[in-house]
Amino acid sequence: MKNESLLQMFEAHPDQYVSGELISQKLGVSRTAIWKQIRKLEAAGYRFEASRRLGYRLISVPDKLSIKDLREQMQFNTFGKAIQHFDSVESTQNLARSAAEEGAAEGTLFIAEQQVNGRGRMGRSWVSPQGKGIWMSMVLRPSVPIHFAPQLTLLTAVALCRSLKRITSLPIGIKWPNDLLIDGKKISGILLESSAEEERLRYVIAGIGISVNLDKEDYPEEILEKATSLSIAGGKKWDRVDIIAAFLKEWEQLYMLYKEQGFDPIITLWEALSVSLGKATRLITPQGEIIGKPTGLDSSGAILVELADGTIKPVFSAEMGEPLASH
Ligand code: BTN
Repeated sequence: MKNESLLQMFEAHPDQYVSGELISQKLGVSRTAIWKQIRKLEAAGYRFEASRRLGYRLISVPDKLSIKDLREQMQFNTFGKAIQHFDSVESTQNLARSAAEEGAAEGTLFIAEQQVNGRGRMGRSWVSPQGKGIWMSMVLRPSVPIHFAPQLTLLTAVALCRSLKRITSLPIGIKWPNDLLIDGKKISGILLESSAEEERLRYVIAGIGISVNLDKEDYPEEILEKATSLSIAGGKKWDRVDIIAAFLKEWEQLYMLYKEQGFDPIITLWEALSVSLGKATRLITPQGEIIGKPTGLDSSGAILVELADGTIKPVFSAEMGEPLASH
């Protein structure tokens, strides 16, 4: 049985229940085959209501991004100059990396409706259900030394935070280095993966995950404690095209500013949006655990942490915990 034939039956009966008997008759398939097909459609983002007596009713179809609308809204021309849009992929990071290896230009963007193997930082997985978020990766080719890569992560977080705040008016802040939080819960993550040669970056793949229209049911329970979405926080669904267009514009503007003026202006913007500064916390660094109060960024992108004895320590990479109540 084809998805299309089943969907056509529901389209012919908008907002109505269609009985299993009718479907079975019309499409010449068993009730079990219908049930299996319904489950497949649900996994692809369709929602049905099922009634033992009445059959199935189609409640909603998955939201699909219109790349045509996106192109019309875009005002800058390097970031997103070439866009490739996919339905379901393992991870947009993999697609962008292969393209970069084959010479894809800076700004080439890969967007997927769904990722079945979305990756987060520290080897974690990233929840990326169909049609509900922004799962995208872009190729960057900055001509800077490899140790400047963290600056690009911070720059991307600033662009994302500024554009999301502007569109949603939600109280979004940046937790160092690049998690976007609302009331302590994560709504977006950034994953930068780079390839370097002789201390210079060959390319950077900037992966952006924005949990836009996810419902609570879309998260595994243990993640729901730490994560939320723009729709859960804002009580409404958001247009993903508006968000992508606003973000790409902001991101490209900041990237140009960075190329012209270096990292200093980005530091000021990042510090203004940060929710990590001034609150004592525990940081797990590759060299061990430290407790201290983050006070700002240094010119390389490291976070400056004031220790109990008053010394200031730059931390380049760490997992930052929650603020400590007793400090
Ligand atoms: C994090 O752990 O905070 C980073 C999450 C990054 C998720 C995005 S979604 C698009 C791109 N593809 C992936 O597999 N990961 C990134």
